[in-house]
Amino acid sequence: MAKPFSTDHPFLNGYFAPLHLEGDASDLPISGMLPVEMDGTLYRIGPNPQFAPRGDYEWFAGDGMVHEFKLSAGRASYRNRYVRTPKWQLEHEAGEGLSAGTVAPSPLDDPRLAQLRSTLANTNIVRHGRNLLALEESHAPYALDQTSLSSLGYETFGGDLVGPMTAHPKIDPVSGEMIAFAYQTAGLGSRDTRVHVLGADGSLRRSERFMAPFASMMHDFAVTASRIILPVFPLTASIDRAGKGLPAYAWEPELGNHIGIMSRRDGVASMRWFRGEASYVFHVLNAYDTEDGKVVTDMVRYDVPPGYRMADGSPARGRQHGARLVRWTFDLARDDERYTDAPLSDMQVEFPRVDDRHALQQHRHGWFVSGSANTNVGEASDRASIAHIDTQTGATRLWRPQRNDFAGEPVFVPRSPGAEEGDGWIVTVVYRGDTHRSDLVVLEALDIARGPIATVHLSHHVPAGFHGNWYSAA
Ligand SMILES: [Fe+2]
Repeated sequence: MAKPFSTDHPFLNGYFAPLHLEGDASDLPISGMLPVEMDGTLYRIGPNPQFAPRGDYEWFAGDGMVHEFKLSAGRASYRNRYVRTPKWQLEHEAGEGLSAGTVAPSPLDDPRLAQLRSTLANTNIVRHGRNLLALEESHAPYALDQTSLSSLGYETFGGDLVGPMTAHPKIDPVSGEMIAFAYQTAGLGSRDTRVHVLGADGSLRRSERFMAPFASMMHDFAVTASRIILPVFPLTASIDRAGKGLPAYAWEPELGNHIGIMSRRDGVASMRWFRGEASYVFHVLNAYDTEDGKVVTDMVRYDVPPGYRMADGSPARGRQHGARLVRWTFDLARDDERYTDAPLSDMQVEFPRVDDRHALQQHRHGWFVSGSANTNVGEASDRASIAHIDTQTGATRLWRPQRNDFAGEPVFVPRSPGAEEGDGWIVTVVYRGDTHRSDLVVLEALDIARGPIATVHLSHHVPAGFHGNWYSAA
């Protein structure tokens, strides 16, 4: 029998409370005017445990739920569905939670879970080739039907993809290729890392293995028109440590950062390593090549990864504050291992997004969440705002919603296919803490401080999630 969820766990209540319903809603009420040119679909995904976990639930370990907003001709509809992975199906048949609710295996897990190839798909949702894929970095991609959002099964691209795949693949807007990677592919604590290249048609064209300098959590990476950049930060993984009751993932700043850069054409044989002072990055805004042979990556950098511990189990030491946007420049013409690190803004930000038509090329604008609902990714605050940083001028703009309102990742929607960079809208799902409901908010991308030009109202809440993407109907 299904047990009640904890009523005091921070990741199971309020903004984070799981939704127990799947449904469809047409012609949602709208305040303001939804631009009639907006014609497409926004997908969002996040953790949403089907059943109460048996142990101390970790946010990253919840079953995935997809939220779809279709906007067309000034009207809006909504649909949500669980990603019905084998774990979801097993628990559905059992009628209760069988997992501890932790990312690493736990003695509280039902032994049948260990037999499953994969269990989670909750971090990002991308369309590529003919596929709509729900992604989580420790597992294979999970394919969904684009019309109904029903679960189709693991996508191995014709059986060619072995093991997991990152939740942050990069899609080249010029070639249509999808570039991805996978870490610890030989198991927790292994240095085995892979780089995958998929053609525009969704087929796996190349998959190469290399050994990272040490096993670590690699959440995101960067790609330019000519290079693949794989940062290895010293948030290390060790199965030996986990076996002794110490953290599976621990902060070991003495190891420093190791940033691997390889040519897209020549692959891992061309890998070159750069070294720098320890820091941690969950998310990259964008990266590009310069005309004088440099590689530039803009990303959201923490001095110390929030919520993690040292190898001995003590709290992570170092300056602990929220993340800031920085620019790293790698001069490929020099033969040393150094790179430069320059701040682009003092604003505390996360969930960086660029105008995806400029992905892998030089960009000017970035949009972010500023402030956070949880201490896992930053400092807890009484609201989460949307920030815009013009990396050319350094100008910043902010849209601050009401107190107790939390905006999710901002996604850029171009006004038209040929519009200038940044000419369009930002869509973001905002949780209204006072009424325990969510709205889809539309902002003018280059004038976010003006506030919403349209707000689509849901009668229920969309739980705190991770990532999503917009796909124009055209
Ligand atoms: Fe992420």
